[in-house]
Amino acid sequence: MEFKELEEKLKADWGRASVDKRHPWRYPVFATADGTQPQQRIVVLRKFIPAKWEFWFYTDYRSQKISDLKENPAVALHFYHPRQQIQVRLQGRSYIEFQNELSASELATLPENQRSDYQSALAPGSPLTEDMEEGPAAAADHFCVLRFEAQALDYLKLSREGHFRAKGEEQANGSWEWMEVQA
Ligand SMILES: Cc1cc2nc3c(=O)[nH]c(=O)nc-3n(C[C@H](O)[C@H](O)[C@H](O)COP(=O)(O)O)c2cc1C
Repeated sequence: MEFKELEEKLKADWGRASVDKRHPWRYPVFATADGTQPQQRIVVLRKFIPAKWEFWFYTDYRSQKISDLKENPAVALHFYHPRQQIQVRLQGRSYIEFQNELSASELATLPENQRSDYQSALAPGSPLTEDMEEGPAAAADHFCVLRFEAQALDYLKLSREGHFRAKGEEQANGSWEWMEVQA
């Protein structure tokens, strides 16, 4: 497969995954490093901007991943397509959009039942105790958008006819340089 064709196929799939709940790439693993320990968690792909290789996710500003990103904005994303036997590993950096125009306009698109994910009085991961007094907060107090910009990619497709693995890297002019490597 030509690398240009591979790029286009990947981008088309991410575009589909951002709107199709059944697409396996809708739920990538989002990995951070807080300096000592890698941390991974599943997130929902909310938007993909092909021209910028940019992926958007929603999260709670109080969550551990935000503390990790403040310390180290480097992120790895992992996508797996079980039927096609494809693994894509991305590396890049992330940007936290919190209480600004972008986060407000994304929050405005969320239905009520999803807004409540960001209205808990307790921060995600806090121990639950019986004497909790505080009521629900406003979603805008905690909702934030994580923008991830890919800078490098490792693609692997397993197949009976022969495995295929390629690495891609963003260049200074924004284009991507590709190289086939041993699977
Ligand atoms: C199917 C699924 C989808 C999830 N989607 C998100 C999401 O879009 N954003 C998010 O912050 N957490 C999401 N989570 C929860 C995270 O995996 C994680 O438990 C949570 O964000 C706390 O992570 P942290 O303490 O490392 O920040 C999802 C979990 C599952 C199982």
